[in-house]
This record gives sequence, C-alpha cells and structure tokens, in this order.
Amino acid sequence: MTVGFNFLEAPELPAPQVSDAQAEDILATNYGLRARATSLGSQQDKNFVVTVDGEILGVLKIANPAFNATEIEAQDLAAEKIAEAEPMLRMAVPLPNLAGQKCTALTGLMDGTAYVRLLRYLPGGTLLDSGYLSPTAVAGLGEVAGRVSRALEGFRHPGLDRVLQWDLRYGTAVVAELISYVTDPLRRARVHAAATEAWSRIAPLVDELPRQAVHLDLTDANVVVARRVDSSAHPDGVIDFGDLSDSWAVSELAITVSSVLGHAGNEPISILPAVRAFHSIRPLTTAEVDALWPLLVLRTAVLIVSGAQQARLDPDNPYLARQFGGEWRMFEQATSVPIDVMTEVIKADLGLAARPDPVAGSLIDVDPTSVVTLDLATTSDVYDSAFENDGSLKAGVEDGLARAAAQDGARLVVTQYGQPRLSRTRKLSQERPDVVATGISIWPAAPTRLVAPWDGEVGDDGLTLRGVDFELTLSGVHAVASGSVSAGEPLADAPADAWVEVGVRPVGAPAAPLLTRSELAPGWLALTRDPRPLLGLPGVAVPHTGDLLSRRDASFAPVQEFYYRKPPQIERGKRHYLMSTAGRTYLDMVNNVTVLGHAHPRIADTAARQLRKLNTNSRFNYAAVVEFSERLAAMLPDPLDTVFLVNSGSEASDLAIRLATAMTGRRDVVAVREAYHGWTYGTDAVSTSTADNPNALATRPDWVHTVESPNSFRGKYRGAEAVQYAREAVEQISQLVADGRPPAAFICESVYGNAGGMALPDGYLQQVYAAVRAAGGLAISDEVQVGYGRLGEWFWGFMQQNAVPDIVSVAKSTGNGYPLGAVITSRAVADGFRSQGYFFSSTGGSPLSCAIGMTVLDVLRDERLQENAARVGAHLKARLQALQHKHPIIGTVHGIGLYLGVEMVRDAETLEPAPEETSAICDRMLELGVVIQPTGDHMNILKTKPPLCIDLEAADFYVDTLDRVLTEGW
Ligand SMILES: Cc1ncc(COP(=O)(O)O)c(C=O)c1O
Repeated sequence: MTVGFNFLEAPELPAPQVSDAQAEDILATNYGLRARATSLGSQQDKNFVVTVDGEILGVLKIANPAFNATEIEAQDLAAEKIAEAEPMLRMAVPLPNLAGQKCTALTGLMDGTAYVRLLRYLPGGTLLDSGYLSPTAVAGLGEVAGRVSRALEGFRHPGLDRVLQWDLRYGTAVVAELISYVTDPLRRARVHAAATEAWSRIAPLVDELPRQAVHLDLTDANVVVARRVDSSAHPDGVIDFGDLSDSWAVSELAITVSSVLGHAGNEPISILPAVRAFHSIRPLTTAEVDALWPLLVLRTAVLIVSGAQQARLDPDNPYLARQFGGEWRMFEQATSVPIDVMTEVIKADLGLAARPDPVAGSLIDVDPTSVVTLDLATTSDVYDSAFENDGSLKAGVEDGLARAAAQDGARLVVTQYGQPRLSRTRKLSQERPDVVATGISIWPAAPTRLVAPWDGEVGDDGLTLRGVDFELTLSGVHAVASGSVSAGEPLADAPADAWVEVGVRPVGAPAAPLLTRSELAPGWLALTRDPRPLLGLPGVAVPHTGDLLSRRDASFAPVQEFYYRKPPQIERGKRHYLMSTAGRTYLDMVNNVTVLGHAHPRIADTAARQLRKLNTNSRFNYAAVVEFSERLAAMLPDPLDTVFLVNSGSEASDLAIRLATAMTGRRDVVAVREAYHGWTYGTDAVSTSTADNPNALATRPDWVHTVESPNSFRGKYRGAEAVQYAREAVEQISQLVADGRPPAAFICESVYGNAGGMALPDGYLQQVYAAVRAAGGLAISDEVQVGYGRLGEWFWGFMQQNAVPDIVSVAKSTGNGYPLGAVITSRAVADGFRSQGYFFSSTGGSPLSCAIGMTVLDVLRDERLQENAARVGAHLKARLQALQHKHPIIGTVHGIGLYLGVEMVRDAETLEPAPEETSAICDRMLELGVVIQPTGDHMNILKTKPPLCIDLEAADFYVDTLDRVLTEGW
C-alpha cells in the first residue's frame, strides 16, 4: 500500500489558493519576518518570493494539502543529503521557523493541514526563459542530474513511497487517465500513439531498470544557474524537491533532457552532451540506455496531457498557458526521430554501439571486376569540375559519373553505404542536410535482372522482400514477383541507364530514409545494413581518420592553434563556401586570403600548367617575374615603381622594415598598438596586439616605439576627438628625434584590420607620414589584409587616407592562398638595400608564384571583384547596421567594402567588450552553417572578410543567421 500521495486515486490537484497577504501573515507569525510575498507560478503547490528590505530571502512554499508530512520530510532530507555529498551544488534547503523547525504545519488556511516551508533562495535564475541552450549549458544540466542521482543513490525514506503523475513508471496510466483533456483529436491521437510506442520499448526493460530516490523534476525550471560575467549560464543548483519519489534512476536523466527540447533551436541530438555528462558521473546500464529515449518520449506525452488537465482545472493560471507552447515543441521534437534511431544515436555517442553482422545472399549476378564504385565523399576528385559558377553542384553529377564509367566498360556502377555524399548537400542552409546514404544506389549499364537474395515474402507493391532476418527494399525497378519467393528466384528488373535504390534492414527496424543527416547517421546505420555484399562486393568501411585533432596535436606544434573547439573537417572549398567531410556546406566569412574564392579553376589551371613547365628562382631569366613586377608596380602611384617578391605577409613587412633601416641607417621603428604584422623576428617586434600575444606590450625590444592605437570607437579619443591620435603620434616622433633616436620608419595598417576593419581617423596617415618623413624616416603601409581591392572603393587602403607611403607590403590576396607576398617601393629605397649585399628568396618570385600572381590580377579584373566588394560590402554593412538597432549587443559595425567588423559589447555606454559572448556566437553560427571568427585585442569583433566573390544571397544568409543567433540565444 502506498503511504503518500496517489495520483491515480486523486487525479485532480489544483494549486492551493493563498493570497500574498496571507503569505505575509504566515511569514510574520511563524518566521518573525516583516517580509513581502509575491506569488510565483507553480502547477500544484503555491509559491511566493519572499523579500525583506528589497533583498530576496527565499521562497515560501505551501505544499498542496494532498501531500503529507512524511513526504515533505523526505524532500528536506534529500536536499540536505545532496548538499552534503555534492558541495559544488547549491541546494534550496529549508530555513528554520521561530520554533527551529524546517516545516510549519498550519491548519485553517485551507482544507486539511498545510505544510509550509521557507526555502533558501538561490540567486542566478533558471534556464526556463533562455532561448537556445548551448552544448555547454546542456552538458551542465546533465552534470547536475548526474550528481543528484549519484548523491541520492541509497537514500531511503517512507516519504518516497508515493504515486506521482510525473513518475514515468505510471506514464501510460497517466496518459490514459488524462488524454481526454487534449481537445484536438489529431493531437490526441499523436500523443496516444507516441506514448504507446514508447511503452512498448520500456515494458520489456522494466525489471532491469535500477530504482532509487529521484528528484524527478530536474528540468530547466528547477536547475538554478550561476551567471558568468558574459551572462552565460552554468547550471549548479537545485530547487523544488516536491516530486521526490522512488522510481527508475534513469527517469532523472530522461526528465532533465526532455526539457532541453522545449528551447528554440534545440533538437534531439542536442541532448547528447547531457547524456554524456550524466554517464560520466553515474554510468548508465545497457537497459537504462535503451530506456532513455522512450522514457523521454513518454515524459513529453505526460506533460501534454497533464498540462491540458491543469488548464481545465485552473483556467486562470497564466503559468500553465505559457508552459504549453514549450511542451508541445518538446513533444514534436521528441517524436521527430524514431525511438530506435535515437537510442542507437545515444549508444553510438556513448561508445556502446554493437557491430552489426553483414548480410549474405546474391541480388545480382555480376562480375565484381566490372563493377565501379563511385566515391561521392567531399574529398573525392569527382567534384573537381562539378560546380556551377554560383557555387552549387551541377545537377546530375552522379548520372554523368555513372555514364562515364559505363562508357569505360563498367557493367554496374555502385555508390557507397554510409558515406556522406557531397552531391546531396545544399548550398546555404541553417539546417543540417540529409547526406548520408542508408543504402546504396546502383546503375546498370544494361537492363538487369535482380533475384531474391534470400527466401521471403514479397510486399504488395513488389518492392520489398521480407526474409527471416532482413528486409530488402528496392525502388526504381519493375517488380516481377509476388507472394513467397525462394533465394535465387527472379525478383525485379532494373532498367539500364538509371539509378536503383537498394536498402536492407533487420526485420522490424523502422523504414529508413534514403539519406539522413550525419548526426543521425549512427542511428540509421545501426538499423540498416550495407547491401553491397549482395552484389558480391566487399562492404566499404566508412573511412575513419581517427581523432584527427589529437593526431594533429601529436605531430603539428599545438601552438599553431585551430579554429573552434570542435571544428568540422573541411577538405574542400568552392568560391565562398567550405565543405566538410560530414557533407555540410558552410558559408565562409573569414577567408580574406582566398580573395577570388576557393578552388578557383583559373588558378588551378595556371598552377598545373606552370608546374608542368618550370619552377625555378628569380636568379634565372624568365618573363613571368618581369611581367608580374611590371603589373604590380603599375598598380601603385609614383614613386612606388620597384618590386620585391617574397612568400608571405610576414616576409613582406619584415623586408619593408629592413629596407627602411638600410636606407636610413637607423634602427628605431614606430608602430601602433593593437596591431599585427607577422611572425618573423622583425615583424613580431612591431606586432603589439595583445590578442595575438598577451605579453606583447611588455616585451617590445628597445628599438620599437608604440603610439596609441588610433581606435575611434573605444580608444582614448573617440568620435570627432579621434583626430587627436595623429597629434599625439607626431609629438612622440618629435620626442624620439629630440632624444637622439630618430625613427627609420613608421609602420601601420592603412585601415585598421586587426581592430575589425576600422578606418583610421581622417588625416591620420597624412600627418604621421609627414612627421616621420620630416624626421628622415620612411612610411610603411601594411596592406596585407586590407589592400588588393577588398575595400571596394579603393584598391589600396592608403588611398582611403589620401596618403602615399614610401613602402607597401602586401600578401595573402596576392596569391589567392598560394604563398606569395610583395614589397613595392621607390627605386631609391630599393637601391638603398645594396648596403646589405643583395636580396634573394628561393621561392619568392618563382615562375609559379608570378604566374599565379598574374592570374589573380586577371581574375580580379575579369570578375570585377573590387566592384563586387563595394556593392555587396555596402549591402552587408547596411544590413548589419540595421541589426544593431535590434540587438544591443552590437556596439557598432566597423569597416568598408568587404572588410567589416561587428563589435560586440555588454553595455552601450561603457562599451565593455563581450568576448565570451562573441566566441559563443561564433560557435552557434558554425552550427547554423557560417564560419566566422572573433578578432581585436578584446576578441569581441566578428571579423567579416569573406572572399570577394561573395554574392548578395550569401551576405543575406550571414546577416539572417546572425539575427537568428542573437534572437534565439547562443
Ligand atoms: C596586417 C598583417 N600583416 C602581416 C601579416 C602576416 O602575414 P602572413 O601570415 O602571410 O605571414 C598578417 C597576417 O595575418 C596581417 O594581418
């Protein structure tokens, strides 16, 4: 017999009616508090926030009179037990009343005895109102659930013996009892069907599921979070033990993760970090893993029916109406993937997946040597000329490949099972595309008869063959059999020159879609089989690169960091798109180096042609070095007419500094703060950005003198005041002269790329160049990032400032990713280097790099990319600025053309930078298909510098995705 409450006997449980004034009376009489009580939403108890002198002290909880004192004592003891066992968790433990008791029994307030407690207030709030829950937040929820579960194991108390509607042991009974409250017949049918199916998976496991004390409501509403400075939430506290029961331990986790599905942007696979975190604290048994997703589905069904019932009982409770939208979303998400598939996904994620047995039998009698297997992976060479000009894949790529193979003598062309096919990716999408094949496609060169690989029953449409163990599914064939067939008997005819889809699944497994998204692939692949053995072919193992990142760290110096904590493996690019090996296409908003776009065919052709001819060095006499130098020099104003060719931006800026020191015979150099110029000894010395090197300012050699970063947004002088930067820099240069250390050079980016593409204050370069020249030094413009057409209106950044430097260093865009840098200066400065001997770089100015450099210039011209930068850049900036009005985190939008910076701040007044937010936003943007990264000394600027071929559609996709992330949360 149950000691405590029994929902099944008393299914109607409206929350007690107690006014704020009554609550304040209770606080005065029993706790001696002159406090304010403000009613809070709750489904079955009555809760008040208690404030004393404006400070929140706790929550006054008046338990539903249906619950008895033993139950309430169990809850208080459980909270204390967890608090003891898991000191990292904050617990809403009860505070004593005037008599020193944790629980006050009141009569006269309502029918029966009311049990009242004042629970400690845990500041920080919950995740209930958060939008999208990031993988870190989700893992945090799972960790709290794991800790609670571990702490409560072995906790026994008679007050746990109760029958609550939230106890999933009674889930189907609760659904049956309350389903009639769901008024929409369609929804009612869906909820009923889902609960029934879920129970069919749970029932066989019931005896194997360990039981223990469970909180049973550790959801986004009852897990309290600590807010970090960036306002991100770290789950670390637990409130509301009202549902504490003895039940299946795994229910704790199922209930926790179900709440994730109510949040915009979260979906079934979003729960995996929580499951992993829980499992690492409190390992799940095999039966628990099998039961987890069905329990989650059942939980969402219980929420729907309970919410419908409460809404009927308590129609004026606004808390209930608010809950309902989220609950329906949870249910829809929970049922969006077949139960067995999610269970396999979870198993695979925990490393618990079983290796399926291969199938045997013969579907087609074909000589394996006449079969050609198409490799449709991202890395496959078949895509080298498979793209349209707009970056999409040509239609019918697979058909073309199959025909070509057939012409070369193939009798049968076959695809690979389990392979993410790039041919099926979508160009731009915030959703993950269906790309992984759950079967194979076959293309016979001539009409081909298919035979039954095993004894079985042919389905009504003639397209399935169900054997004892496996079911075969065909499409694109003419059925020739019906009823029972034996192995080897005719089954269907496949036409020539067309694709036939072949799938195999264990009998009873759900029907698989032909393609699934890569995140669900482990689930579907566990529930299907590779059909290739039916063609006499070995199964093709999906290539496994192992953990590429740990291999990378083992061999490639880890100080060469990578983007993202969990980066996709990118093995192909086209124009402004990047393709991962998981078959996802990303919009590339950061690769300014590939100015023409990725994998430009003209660059590839040039490189291949030149490599077939010659690649020597500039001490030989060949035309390319002359022609490329002439073309570069012609792009610069007088007197910049003489070219050096090197391999990188670091080398170019380093050489620029050496030219200046050689020419002037001096060693001192003036650089601006917050700048980056390269990694060589010389350029590193003038690199002052603390983002690249946190010790940069403290470790400059004595020959480097830094002037204030001319940052007109957040620097010392802002807005109109920013003209003061030039005055100060000029004064510093005069001071150096006065100190007997006149500078050899002043080096700076002509548009402040490292600060997010910020324009320098008006007149800055003119004034500082004039001062350095007056002091006998030279002006160096580092155009490595901002030059070469990116700014749209100007080919070189210094043109924006109406100034002409003495030395220009440029790289990155010059080779479209091929290592090629240049220094362009006057003949006089170039000749000044004679004092250093002569200049030579083994691969700088090689025939290959010159050929590529000229092709880059040709394509820039032919495809009008500078114009495109102006046009798309203006559109992009206007749209980003419009977004700024909607989202206060956007402090400003810097830049011009296609060098833009979206600067994120926590406060529009103080301009406090938002680096953690920016990093989290970048992570979420990646999930939604956009590669973007932070820059700036505070790492709070989205550096927006895509290839110059980007079009309006892609620019809009970037802004729309950013808008979504800033709206939904990150
Ligand atoms: C302004 C600037 N100068 C120079 C460099 C160095 O170029 P590289 O990486 O090609 O050596 C960089 C690289 O990011 C840069 O941004």
